[in-house]
Amino acid sequence: METSSSISVFGLGYVGSVTAACLAERGCRVIGCDVQAAKVEQIQAGEAPISEPGLEELIQQQLETGRISATVDAESAVRDSEISLICVGTPSTASGGLDLRFVEAVAGEIASGIRKKEGLHSIVFRSTMLPGSTRRIATEHFGDLIESGKVDVFFYPEFLRQGSALADFRVPSLSAIGTFEPGASTESIAAVLDSETETMTLEAAELLKYACNAFHATKVSFANEIGRIGKALGIDSTSVMAQLCRDERLNISPYYLRPGTPFGGSCLPKDVSALSLQARALNVSTPTIDSLLESNRRHLESLIERVEAAGARDVLLVGLAFKAGTDDLRGSAMLELAASLLMKDYTVHIFDPDVAPRNLIGANQRFAAAKLPALETLLVSDLVAALDAPQQTLVISKPCADLEILKTELSPCHHVIDVNGWSALAEIAPSYEGLCW
Ligand SMILES: NC(=O)c1ccc[n+]([C@@H]2O[C@H](COP(=O)([O-])OP(=O)(O)OC[C@H]3O[C@@H](n4cnc5c(N)ncnc54)[C@H](O)[C@@H]3O)[C@@H](O)[C@H]2O)c1
Repeated sequence: METSSSISVFGLGYVGSVTAACLAERGCRVIGCDVQAAKVEQIQAGEAPISEPGLEELIQQQLETGRISATVDAESAVRDSEISLICVGTPSTASGGLDLRFVEAVAGEIASGIRKKEGLHSIVFRSTMLPGSTRRIATEHFGDLIESGKVDVFFYPEFLRQGSALADFRVPSLSAIGTFEPGASTESIAAVLDSETETMTLEAAELLKYACNAFHATKVSFANEIGRIGKALGIDSTSVMAQLCRDERLNISPYYLRPGTPFGGSCLPKDVSALSLQARALNVSTPTIDSLLESNRRHLESLIERVEAAGARDVLLVGLAFKAGTDDLRGSAMLELAASLLMKDYTVHIFDPDVAPRNLIGANQRFAAAKLPALETLLVSDLVAALDAPQQTLVISKPCADLEILKTELSPCHHVIDVNGWSALAEIAPSYEGLCW
């Protein structure tokens, strides 16, 4: 596939050199640019500046086609291209923060090159940066060019792995791009994009990259902790984790990966606590697993803070059981929320057609009685009457209320906090916020 696009790739390290060679393979004309003359000379000589299987052969092939070249001269690289990809390093600072010095420098150089040429130029940031960085750097260095329509800006995170970088570039595990304005066209950089690329905001695309890496780190740490517990107990944890991975409904799946309600129910809090205690008894350190209950508690606190910030002293909780379709109140975050709000002298009403105190039995009944003795007096069955308050915050955790009633009755004096992403609420509530969005 030969495309007429000319692309300058800034930074010829692990990401940039693979990107340059693979885009040339795709048919683009590519100019690699690096401040290290040695890396530029290596590309020109058909050598890979980094060790990556297959890269040297690909660079040699692309040199023969004449589609790849390299320079230390940023201005000429910008002049001879219509798209610039920024792949320079973003190392850690001494305090663990992010050093954006190289991105800042290259953004300045690209901007100065663009000012000396005609026509639209697109700048695609690929270096990993914290949310807000791309917009700030772009605005500082070439805000005027964006405003005048001469420059398009994107953040396109890179997910390749060293060792299989060429294969990962050709078939990415994930491809999503952030645009400067929501919904802006990505047509100008079509040659760079994968066919499956999803569009989002700049900041969301930046966070996506960190979410992926934090998730990968969580997976490794979790597997290693299970490994250490297994070792201490004489169990082959490799086989345990292999079986865990066979469950593609709950374990290796989108399930449990939606921001929303804190976890609850009769199993997760109890079992996480027991496992953590056993690890301690075995003298096995498991900080990831130990942190789960604390993380969950903090999430509940963030919900309480949202209710407090909303201001109204009258709160209606819609949905009490820990998930839809059950009356199980054990470990219910909404029950904990009700108890906390009562302690803080809020007026609390609860609407949940699944919950009838007289039907609660056994551990379920004991948990509810211990955590929220006043439950029976707080439950309301008439939603319309419950909404009759001068100022009220609704905390809605499951879709157990009649949408038509909410549509008719909700007014600006009702502030809705949507805990789990009931999408219809955003459209019908005059005052709406999501817990995590
Ligand atoms: N290495 C990976 O596997 C990987 C994967 C995904 C994302 N990333 C991210 O991609 C970015 C690049 O990572 P890397 O591993 O390729 O870094 P790297 O250190 O290997 O390469 C960066 C290159 O940028 C060059 N450079 C610095 N300033 C420059 C300038 N002003 N103009 C031109 N070139 C300049 C450096 O000389 C160097 O060759 C980082 O933000 C990293 O977090 C890395």
